[in-house]
Amino acid sequence: MKTEVLAIKDIKKQSDDIARAGKILRGGGLVAFPTETVYGLGADGLDAEACAKIYEAKGRPSDNPLILHVADRAMVDEITREIPDIAEKLLAAFCPGPITLILERKDIVPDRITGGLSTVGVRMPENEVARAMIRAAGVPIAAPSANISGRPSPTTAASVLRDMDGRIPLILDGGPCRFGVESTIVDCTGPVATILRPGAITREMLTEVLGGVKLDPALVGAKVVPKAPGMKYKHYAPNAPMTLLEGGPEKMVPAFRRQVRQLQAEGHRVGVLASHEVCTALQDSVPAPLLADYGAQGDLLTIASRIYELLIAFNDTEADVLLGEGMSDAGLGLAIMNRLHKASGFHSIAI
Ligand code: TXA
Ligand code: MG
Repeated sequence: MKTEVLAIKDIKKQSDDIARAGKILRGGGLVAFPTETVYGLGADGLDAEACAKIYEAKGRPSDNPLILHVADRAMVDEITREIPDIAEKLLAAFCPGPITLILERKDIVPDRITGGLSTVGVRMPENEVARAMIRAAGVPIAAPSANISGRPSPTTAASVLRDMDGRIPLILDGGPCRFGVESTIVDCTGPVATILRPGAITREMLTEVLGGVKLDPALVGAKVVPKAPGMKYKHYAPNAPMTLLEGGPEKMVPAFRRQVRQLQAEGHRVGVLASHEVCTALQDSVPAPLLADYGAQGDLLTIASRIYELLIAFNDTEADVLLGEGMSDAGLGLAIMNRLHKASGFHSIAI
């Protein structure tokens, strides 16, 4: 199958292109599309056979449920049984936006896409191309991140193409994703809202709106099965093994110098994924292609938007081990650290 990449610069002028994507989706085909978090791999979410193609294209385990993307509130009501008070508040405060609500589902949602769960993840993206595409399709769109399972999620159309070339007919290119980490998943089915996956809507933002919010115990290291099935899989992993250095930002430069020197003395080609401060300090000891600058320390929006592309890029270098710089888990730091811990297989050194 030939994969076409179609740049969408103006949804009004390109209504024919959007309509074509909608037609492919209604016909049971797959379309990759931009969102404000990461690129999604979409199919008609009410058509189990269309959704089966997503699992095939991604090599995704069949017990890992898909979330449904909607354009408006009417579509939320079409697929969910009831909207508890918690969810009403989150819809009002954060939708459309980078959040996914876990709600009790109606029977219209096929068992196949929810892995047999009685619930469904509902996400109303803010990205205009995504919204126009969903409206053109006229149905909720099932969409996981548009990567091969286990790899980092794509935040550019070029990265989607790298994983999906020849597997899907169409990629809508809406430019780089604004946030760069997947949506915050909030379970709204219990008495207290629970974060199953941290994202751009932070714990602090949720607490302000709801008064209280829990973190799924699996997120804070407890040896329990995570409630979001996908969180149990190995994820975001670059080819070379990665170790995270964790501690105060002011300790990072000397700690990196020490670790780099030691690994190089053992004959390794060390890749570094770190702040601008650390990368600048290592310029004389690490070759430029092996230095991945994720932004200034504390500039969490920039760091989030860059980490996946930087992780992917290491696979084209000679690095055989990677060192990553950790940070505080306040605000968006919780989502970034969650991804970095998974990318490193929870291998970290306290400095
Ligand atoms: O930002 C995002 O959420 C992106 C964009 C494309 O919208 N999508 C995304 O989908 O990250 P995916 O499939 O890569 O991640 C969805 C996560 C998985 O970990 C899955 O196990 C979990 O949501 N999930 C889906 N349905 C669920 C449910 N009913 N209960 C608990 N977790 C669920
Ligand atoms: Mg994913």
